[in-house]
Amino acid sequence: MAHHALVSASILDCDLASLGRESRRALKGGADRLHLDVMDGHFVPNITFGATVIKRLRKIGKQPFDAHLMISEPGRYVDQFIDAGCNSITFHVEVEEPIEPILLKIRKAGRLAGLAIKPATPLAALDPYGDLLDIIMVMTVEPGFGGQKFMADAATKIDPAHAVFRDRPGEPPSRREVHVDGGANRASAEYCGQLGVDVLVVGSVLWKKGVDIEAEIKLVKSLADKGYGSRQAAGRSGRHHTGGIE
Ligand code: DX5
Ligand code: ZN
Repeated sequence: MAHHALVSASILDCDLASLGRESRRALKGGADRLHLDVMDGHFVPNITFGATVIKRLRKIGKQPFDAHLMISEPGRYVDQFIDAGCNSITFHVEVEEPIEPILLKIRKAGRLAGLAIKPATPLAALDPYGDLLDIIMVMTVEPGFGGQKFMADAATKIDPAHAVFRDRPGEPPSRREVHVDGGANRASAEYCGQLGVDVLVVGSVLWKKGVDIEAEIKLVKSLADKGYGSRQAAGRSGRHHTGGIE
């Protein structure tokens, strides 16, 4: 069966002493991309890594890198993430600085531009940016840490998020994706699929001791597909992308 949803592996909870090896393991195990959680200890109460680490990691291969910037000043650092070779750059709609210029800069560099939205922020916060967005990242945990419980209420934003994107003449709809980030795993994948998610960010469950990454990713994708199938059967669809079709 053709897959609809893609999996972006979050390396936040992998063995960071072997980041390159762990990233390859996820990609070899069927992850379509890597999801890179950048935290500044200010926007969220945790600090991870920055553009320098991502730039070094870039040498592992050509698979897409999705940067998720949980930082207060994305405008100050965005050039670094472009230079590091991120294929998409997503930052938070809750930041207290002008958002439009940053989205424009990312798009001008030919990368996908995204906004992430915390569980308590209403989807309407994204409305002003509908024609500049390639990615909407619906957070289903409070950003900051991996391994938290999936918030089903927050996930309900996935379905209406598709309507936030506005048509851009001359641009394929394949550039538009709704991601779910936080607690995506075998227990929540089917529900996310039903809501029409395009990319599931899967983190901590991949890195638990004894987990077969390939089997886990396969299972998450097939459950998401099952959910997506029931959505289609009910006459609804989401993004009509080709990236995940095999
Ligand atoms: C949380 C991060 C997530 C996290 C996902 O702030 O943005 O990407 O790594 O990990 P799990 O799948 O464990 O929730
Ligand atoms: Zn993330």
